[in-house]
Amino acid sequence: MNSQKRVAIIGAGPSGMAQLRAFEAAEQNGADVPEIVCFEKQSDWGGQWNYTWRTGLDEYGEPVHSSMYRNLWSNGPKEGLEFADYSFDEHFGRPISSYPPRSVLWDYIAGRLERSDVRKYVRFETVVRMVTFDEKTSLFTVMSEHLPSAQTRSETFDHVVIASGHFSYPNTPEISGIETFPGSVRHAHDFRGAEALDGRHLLVIGSSYSAEDIGSQAFKMGAASVTASYRTSPMGYEWPEGFEERPLVDHFSGNTAVFADGTSKEFDAVILCTGYQHKYPFLPDELALDGPNNVYPEGLYRGVVWERNPALFYVGAQDQWFTFNMFDVQAWYVRDMILGQIALPNADARAASMQQWRERFLALETAEAEIRFQGDYVLDLLQQTDYPEFDVDRVVQTFVQWKNDKKKDIMGYRDRCYESVMTGTMAVQHHTSWMQELDDSLERYLDEDIEDSRSVASR
Ligand SMILES: Cc1cc2nc3c(=O)[nH]c(=O)nc-3n(C[C@H](O)[C@H](O)[C@H](O)COP(=O)(O)OP(=O)(O)OC[C@H]3O[C@@H](n4cnc5c(N)ncnc54)[C@H](O)[C@@H]3O)c2cc1C
Ligand SMILES: NC(=O)c1ccc[n+]([C@@H]2O[C@H](COP(=O)([O-])OP(=O)(O)OC[C@H]3O[C@@H](n4cnc5c(N)ncnc54)[C@H](OP(=O)(O)O)[C@@H]3O)[C@@H](O)[C@H]2O)c1
Repeated sequence: MNSQKRVAIIGAGPSGMAQLRAFEAAEQNGADVPEIVCFEKQSDWGGQWNYTWRTGLDEYGEPVHSSMYRNLWSNGPKEGLEFADYSFDEHFGRPISSYPPRSVLWDYIAGRLERSDVRKYVRFETVVRMVTFDEKTSLFTVMSEHLPSAQTRSETFDHVVIASGHFSYPNTPEISGIETFPGSVRHAHDFRGAEALDGRHLLVIGSSYSAEDIGSQAFKMGAASVTASYRTSPMGYEWPEGFEERPLVDHFSGNTAVFADGTSKEFDAVILCTGYQHKYPFLPDELALDGPNNVYPEGLYRGVVWERNPALFYVGAQDQWFTFNMFDVQAWYVRDMILGQIALPNADARAASMQQWRERFLALETAEAEIRFQGDYVLDLLQQTDYPEFDVDRVVQTFVQWKNDKKKDIMGYRDRCYESVMTGTMAVQHHTSWMQELDDSLERYLDEDIEDSRSVASR
């Protein structure tokens, strides 16, 4: 009887929310589902999308989770992440643009669950402190703390789903002389907005999404110059005047950065866009995923089952081209394993499957190949559950189109529109271009009385 089982979900970000929705969908179809407890350390769901002004430690002395900043807009088209069981049309009742701001996407993910009854399964402001596994009973013990009351509690579960995200613990490399830099130095995790960079010379270190996006945001908000320093290869976009790329910083001397090619420049602020660590401080090492941020983390059968203990699952542990709909197919697959509707193959078959995927992963050479790899992975899981079918290949094509559009116009790509794979609806242009829009609120975004600033400008 599944209803006698207990399942712990750690985290109520998009991955944990997908797991809640997966069990709810099964229950609606008459399945006998286990008792669910979802632990969420923040006071609301949404994970990274639940913005906080805080940095460092929160009001309870816990590490702040979200790395998002006030003015963040989606960096990929929403048509790539749309849920197959809850479209943007259904949520907003009309077509919207392809690159909505954070608050709009938060509203969308929350909207799917607000229509259901799953909030009752979430214990908010409750942090998981430790998870252990007892070989004799085959049960996990989850020790949690209710933060406002500081009350701790230990309970046993048959399964644990780790959905705690992996973009919250910064990777902060040591750089020679950085301690002599007199301006502000912080990691992207602590960046909350670029207004204070108006008229300043900014150095971002890194060449991935945070460097690209925080650099662009600073440029938009009037930075005097933006320099991005790369370790392996430059981003290579056609940057506007005042935005440039240089090789890695060799050392700092006061406010001067000296680069590996011998050039130097003075800066007012430095932001380390050097990525994040997989870190699970509540897990003993035999249960904790470790390693770099990539599309095929080691130790996970079908990207979700923890090989060393298949009663434990990870959702959303991959580096992400696909996001919300990938978390959904993962959550549906995990649910069906827990319900016994998908059988766990024996250890040899699991090892062979992992080896096959790993070989494909190691042969990936381009971003486009990575997108296709992740698309194939999503399709593999999708075919094994009753998650509503969708055309994964068309989503892959949307991502490829997005990469090309960025290449053409890195500062203007967010004004482009794509067609929904789920509904066929063509996105509409936002009333104001990304470069000109200074109010990123949901209210302004949805305000239909605002005249299109592009048509005003062209008069
Ligand atoms: C700066 C930034 C911008 C991004 N922008 C985009 C974008 O534009 N589009 C896109 O599709 N994706 C974007 N992403 C990717 C993002 O990772 C996913 O969209 C999504 O948020 C991942 O969901 P998740 O649930 O796996 O993790 P998270 O969103 O990180 O949620 C994890 C949850 O677990 C909780 N938690 C953690 N530890 C504990 C604990 N011990 N006990 C209890 N609860 C715990 C956290 O409080 C959090 O609510 C961005 C990521 C970052 C960092
Ligand atoms: N608007 C948005 O939607 C938005 C904005 C920001 C971030 N994000 C999301 O946030 C997630 C994380 O992105 P991220 O860019 O923070 O991390 P990331 O993609 O893991 O990239 C890390 C970067 O840090 C560099 N790096 C690591 N160690 C370094 C060192 N010692 N010295 C110099 N450079 C170093 C890496 O360089 P190498 O290439 O040399 O390894 C890489 O460029 C992604 O999912 C992204 O989509 C989204």
